[in-house]
Amino acid sequence: MSSLEGKVALITGAGGGIGRASAIDMAARGAAVMCADINTQAAEGTVALVSEAGGVADSCAVDVSNAEEVRRAIEATAERFGGLQVLFNNAGVGGGYDWDQTIAINLTGVYYGLRIGAPYLAQNGGGAIINTSSIAGLVGLSASPLPPTLEELEEAEGGPGAYIAAKHGVAGLTKQFAINYGALGVRVNAISPGFIETAMTAEFRAEPEIEQYLISQHPIGRLGRPEEIASVASFLASEDASFINGVVLPVDGGYTAR
Ligand SMILES: NC(=O)c1ccc[n+]([C@@H]2O[C@H](COP(=O)([O-])OP(=O)(O)OC[C@H]3O[C@@H](n4cnc5c(N)ncnc54)[C@H](O)[C@@H]3O)[C@@H](O)[C@H]2O)c1
Repeated sequence: MSSLEGKVALITGAGGGIGRASAIDMAARGAAVMCADINTQAAEGTVALVSEAGGVADSCAVDVSNAEEVRRAIEATAERFGGLQVLFNNAGVGGGYDWDQTIAINLTGVYYGLRIGAPYLAQNGGGAIINTSSIAGLVGLSASPLPPTLEELEEAEGGPGAYIAAKHGVAGLTKQFAINYGALGVRVNAISPGFIETAMTAEFRAEPEIEQYLISQHPIGRLGRPEEIASVASFLASEDASFINGVVLPVDGGYTAR
């Protein structure tokens, strides 16, 4: 198990799903974890789970689409725990948001984490940044066995296209920041999860036909668990990944293998 002993990690979107599982995983490997989320109650819930398991964590509020809030979260983490070595730009939204909102949170939010976090880490002893992209950052998606109708596409306008664009953008930012900051002691990588059992996919999973279709798209024969993304984030954050930089790593049960 990759150790994160002595490291301090800031995780955005740590109030649920992948972010919560990552806070628990990183803390179990010895990191002190700042759980940042727009939903502070949810972030506090994660802190309680980490503490129950014997780990060290605190929470703070952040809206990643606001650059000043991202800066404050980074500074608050370093102040609270005496440094910062790991930044997990994980917060994101799924359906129900229009183009501007989706881009602001899922793409610009990650950009702020990189734009503010990478120089911060470079000036403070180096570290690792992990971004959550998606299989939607590598390929287009279909969430149903049937091709969408024109009506469905009109209704979804701004939604799915925005998510795909944002996640492809995260993949690109990951590569560029890896190139820019690698020699300055900051590794930058992204994870591209397949469909994971979190609140974000609950609506799809509630419909047996859609769930079965989604499962059929993952050659491994099931959807993923948040813990299966968390362990990869911890690995990328650790010294075990010391020569991994600029990778956009599918963790998708083979979804993008075909
Ligand atoms: N679940 C999946 O199948 C899947 C697949 C690929 C990628 N992802 C990505 O993984 C990341 C985590 O998703 P999840 O599945 O854990 O979803 P989730 O909804 O369980 O958790 C997302 C968390 O982000 C927080 N958040 C939302 N907007 C925010 C903002 N503006 N600022 C700060 N926090 C905010 C939410 O409050 C929530 O706690 C997202 O970037 C998502 O796009 C998820």
